[in-house]
Amino acid sequence: MSEATLNNPGLGTYRLKEDVAYQAVTTALELGYRSIDTAQMYDNEAAVGKAIAESPISRDEVFVTTKVWVDQLSKAHFRRSVEQSLARLKMDSVDLLLIHWPAPEGDVPMEEYLGELKAVQQAGLTRHIGVSNFTIAQIDEALKILGPGTLLTNQIEIHPYLHNRRLVEHCQRHDILVTGYMPLAVGRVNDDPVLTAIAENKGVSPAQVALAWVAARGIITIPSSTKRHHLQSNLAAMDLELTISEMNRIDTLDQALRLANPSFAPEWDID
Ligand SMILES: NC(=O)c1ccc[n+]([C@@H]2O[C@H](COP(=O)([O-])OP(=O)(O)OC[C@H]3O[C@@H](n4cnc5c(N)ncnc54)[C@H](OP(=O)(O)O)[C@@H]3O)[C@@H](O)[C@H]2O)c1
Repeated sequence: MSEATLNNPGLGTYRLKEDVAYQAVTTALELGYRSIDTAQMYDNEAAVGKAIAESPISRDEVFVTTKVWVDQLSKAHFRRSVEQSLARLKMDSVDLLLIHWPAPEGDVPMEEYLGELKAVQQAGLTRHIGVSNFTIAQIDEALKILGPGTLLTNQIEIHPYLHNRRLVEHCQRHDILVTGYMPLAVGRVNDDPVLTAIAENKGVSPAQVALAWVAARGIITIPSSTKRHHLQSNLAAMDLELTISEMNRIDTLDQALRLANPSFAPEWDID
């Protein structure tokens, strides 16, 4: 069983398929990433697992996260879907298993799918459990069902245009780590005038400024990239320190812009 932790940063793999996913994971592990984020829905678990298996880094040192998709949440499907994920990853267990989205329209009761999540953890199929895209009310409901100290993380959208402050504070108050996805707003940060000005002043890139801002808020981040130099600079961004005045300037960029907002998304918290 792995000893690795949910490191900052992890490698995101959404949209990366087959050899592209394999290459990104291979390069990331070579550069020093030790946390990889995949999901049943990304259709790349096999490529991610292959890259980890073929890497000289031992499985124990890599923290692997996958997520159960919305159509697998019922008792009839849940455990089998996790076993299928593990078969694709060619692993006996993952380090973290997340509920990818709360059940659309509540069509599966939260007691049912969180019960299944706990059961697969007890069966040794995952070391930690967590949720993704849960609102404040849903975190409270989950904690009532599972009890305190059970959820490792809530993985939510966080970038300079979506700060999600109330939800972040709520999770942190309950000792639930926050993992911020789409930290680069899927590339939008690269052309931002405020981030560019801060970046030029420090001799870094706007993407690095965005990642340093997320990390400075105590949030784990999982940027994705298909390019070696981006993977390297995203890792190096963890050593970048922003001044209070730079943090304050980025704080003005919030537009409550949601890039991941499917029709079945929950009723989002408003800051
Ligand atoms: N739980 C959820 O519901 C959920 C939803 C969405 C995403 N996620 C997770 O979060 C991860 C990150 O989100 P994301 O991949 O959608 O978006 P992202 O990480 O915000 O942005 C990725 C984009 O930024 C570019 N990029 C990366 N590093 C860069 C750099 N240093 N300089 C300039 N551009 C750079 C990449 O292009 P290149 O390839 O050219 O570098 C890619 O186009 C996903 O991969 C996934 O694992 C989770």
